[in-house]
Amino acid sequence: MSTPQDPSPLQHTGHPGELVGVGEEVWMDVIHKMDEVYSDLLQYEVALEEKNAKLEESQQFILSVLTSISDILVVCDRNGTIEDVNRSLEDFTGRSAAQLRGTSVFELFAGDQARAQARHLFSAFSEQPLHDCELPLRAGDGGVVPVSLNCTPRFNAVGKSLGMVVTGRPVGELRRAYQALRQAHEDLKRTQQQLLHSEKMASLGRLVAGVAHELNNPISFILGNVHALKRYADRLQAYIAALHGGAGADRLAQLRTELRIDRIVGDLPPLIEGTMEGAERTRDIVDGLKRFSAIDRDEQERFDLAETLERAVRWVHRATRESFEVRIELPPRLPMLGSPGQMQQVMMNLVQNAWDATAEQPEHWLDIRGEIADGRIHLAFHDNGPGIDEQHLAHIFDPFFSTKPVGKGTGLGLSISYGIVDRHGGRISAANHPAGGAVFTLDLPLAE
Ligand SMILES: Nc1ncnc2c1ncn2[C@@H]1O[C@H](COP(=O)(O)OP(=O)(O)OP(=O)(O)O)[C@@H](O)[C@H]1O
Ligand SMILES: [Mg+2]
Repeated sequence: MSTPQDPSPLQHTGHPGELVGVGEEVWMDVIHKMDEVYSDLLQYEVALEEKNAKLEESQQFILSVLTSISDILVVCDRNGTIEDVNRSLEDFTGRSAAQLRGTSVFELFAGDQARAQARHLFSAFSEQPLHDCELPLRAGDGGVVPVSLNCTPRFNAVGKSLGMVVTGRPVGELRRAYQALRQAHEDLKRTQQQLLHSEKMASLGRLVAGVAHELNNPISFILGNVHALKRYADRLQAYIAALHGGAGADRLAQLRTELRIDRIVGDLPPLIEGTMEGAERTRDIVDGLKRFSAIDRDEQERFDLAETLERAVRWVHRATRESFEVRIELPPRLPMLGSPGQMQQVMMNLVQNAWDATAEQPEHWLDIRGEIADGRIHLAFHDNGPGIDEQHLAHIFDPFFSTKPVGKGTGLGLSISYGIVDRHGGRISAANHPAGGAVFTLDLPLAE
């Protein structure tokens, strides 16, 4: 503010505080205005300082967020010149943000190929984001680290492209975890295969033992009979030689008694019959085995399972006690596609098993119920036998598992049935009924 002593371009009038041509009022106005301006300025400064503090706060906030982001982050312009990076990239590359600013983002990549790839990708996607693209970056220690990259374009307020923001996560950790997981999976698979193999060997062992056991009986009586036949043949030859040699009637009669020719002749038919029976049983066992291993070709024809089931029941019933009551409740038709012969075998074995199981009961019955639901055929065979021992439940479908005396059951019935039902796209299972007895359930595809 001017004082009378101040040098001033205005002229002094001789009175202190008075200027030539400017009245006091005007001066007061000016002073007021200046006061106003000054107070406005003060207010602006306070507001500015407040805004500054806020700006600093938000900058600090952004910086702290950027610093604590574990993913690497690079901001670059349209040419790929780095404008800023976060702490993670500094740690990753071992270079400070100041050193990185102004360099090319493509230099971060390891090798010419990766650089060329990055150039291509970033330019092709410069207007749209790029997700999870894996490229190798050169780490601070000189190592090459594969990084999964995301690249997002950056625009200014009016939508003009400014460049891009690249974020990335080293996939080494992920890959190591994945590899460990894969190794564990491989180990598990190998162990499972070994288990399966030993299980198969055990099954094969049981199978061979079963076959040996089953074949042993008929073969040993075939062998016994053949030995007897050989002895008989020797004696018959001696007798016939005497006959042809012109021996007298007395000598022949003597030989006939000595060699027991009459007994031999009487023994021959049962011996031959027994041998044939043994051979037939051997053939049956081999037949069963063949069916078990599905050597027989599968047929594919349409048939009515209800009809097949009724036939199976009739066939078994023919050989069973009158008192064995089989109650059947079925829809009129159960159309199926496959082999009626094989399905009949399944049904016959189930009915036969029920008959065997109920043998000791005062009365013997089997309930067969069928229905169609959800495009499938459901059958249940419930008998009034003693049920299946809990410890046997897991084994009854194993080949040669049988609780029946030798010669009565081969133990192949259910295991063959299992294979047949499986090949027809169905399932067979066994359980004990809460009210007693065993229940076998079948679930088979219905032919439309
Ligand atoms: N309805 C049932 N009730 C109780 N146990 C059963 C029944 N059906 C099968 N089992 C048990 O399952 C075993 C295996 O049956 P599977 O039909 O496979 O052979 P099997 O009848 O013994 O001999 P095969 O059928 O070869 O003549 C039987 O020995 C028996 O112990
Ligand atoms: Mg059986």
